[in-house]
Amino acid sequence: MVLVPLNSREGEERVESLKSSRLPNFHELSPEERLRVVKEFAGLTEEEVEILRNTGSLPLDLANRMIENVIGATHLPLGIATNFLINGKDYLIPMAIEEPSVVAAASNAARMARMKYGFRASADEPVMIGQVQVCKLKDPEEARRRILEGRERILAKANEQDPLLVKAGGGAREVEVRVLDTRMGPMVVVHLLVDVRDAMGANAVNTMCEAVAPLVEELTGGKVYLRIVSNLAVYRKARAEASFPKEALGGEEVVEGILYAHALAAADPFRCSTHNKGIMNGIIAVALALSNDVRALEAGAHSYAAMGGYKPLTSWEREENGDLRGRIELPLAVGVLGGATGVHPVARVCRKILGVGSSKELAEVMAAVGLAQNLAALRALVAEGIQRGHMKLHARNVAMAAGARGEQVEEVVRRMVEERCIRIDRAREILAQLEQRG
Ligand code: MEV
Repeated sequence: MVLVPLNSREGEERVESLKSSRLPNFHELSPEERLRVVKEFAGLTEEEVEILRNTGSLPLDLANRMIENVIGATHLPLGIATNFLINGKDYLIPMAIEEPSVVAAASNAARMARMKYGFRASADEPVMIGQVQVCKLKDPEEARRRILEGRERILAKANEQDPLLVKAGGGAREVEVRVLDTRMGPMVVVHLLVDVRDAMGANAVNTMCEAVAPLVEELTGGKVYLRIVSNLAVYRKARAEASFPKEALGGEEVVEGILYAHALAAADPFRCSTHNKGIMNGIIAVALALSNDVRALEAGAHSYAAMGGYKPLTSWEREENGDLRGRIELPLAVGVLGGATGVHPVARVCRKILGVGSSKELAEVMAAVGLAQNLAALRALVAEGIQRGHMKLHARNVAMAAGARGEQVEEVVRRMVEERCIRIDRAREILAQLEQRG
């Protein structure tokens, strides 16, 4: 099959770059054919293609150096979301996820966004917060003053720990002090603000916090217990916005429905949890592909959403012409250096496919993916419902779990979908019938 990066559907494409991620028939290709397309798009070497092709690409000895008590490695399917145009640049987006429909949904939303201008995204400088907890203080306000007086010494001590980071333009930048009333009495929390450049940053920040703790004790006469990064990375937020044509979404009724869906999420934490979960479906899938710390991202996103009452991470409004505009903002402490990002062979290839030059650019891409994912979920929910898209892929998993192989899979799926009965016992029955027939 020949793949055409199509720019030609009348009225559909307004913005195209030379290397287009608009690949209308990508999903119809075989995995091998898709690999060829991605290889060409990202300039992968044959060796890198081989790493992707070989789905067990984490060698045991490498896994054994990453965590403790290793006995193997587990794998997720790695898909590519197409159609993303972010700040005028085309991206093919690697996503690692076990849930059907997420990759297709992101690609579909990105296709609609590029009918206008794609996504406009931005990210803050990569500044993380490290916390140093100071307890047993006679006078917390006096301790606060002393810490602020010692600001230069604290920053210098922190920066001594990581000359490479400082050389790369990062390092400890600022000291903040908060006095908190707690169940154990008043205490002071020092925030060390550290520009971690292209890393996720927890290691650098934790090292600095541990190093400055004795100095903080000396300045305050208090007792330091915790010295650790905060995942509520409010200085490291990313944003994206996009506009979606009402016709592409399915008309005014769908736009209206999405506004109602957003209103419910804003009013009800039970719905908001699922709304934000859908956003994180996309963000976490990209993070997993690039071996980023997904627990840190989840913690950051949901704690940010909960500041001042749990709220949706996206907002939606109708434009004057009836089109739908969406925005997302959340902390995204993501990295392209350090941790497992540079160790895991598949993560390294995924980063090359994504073609991001910095942690900021990665955060911008992930914000756009989160917005796309939310749009796709809300559109499906208010239009045909989420199950239709899921059904076939879900049925395929059920068929395979029941033992169907090769051509049997499609036949079992076809019959279960037709009967609207997607259950493992039914899959087994159909399979038994097929096998009887030979
Ligand atoms: C499923 O993984 C995600 C959704 O539930 C998100 C949502 O409801 O907005 C579809």
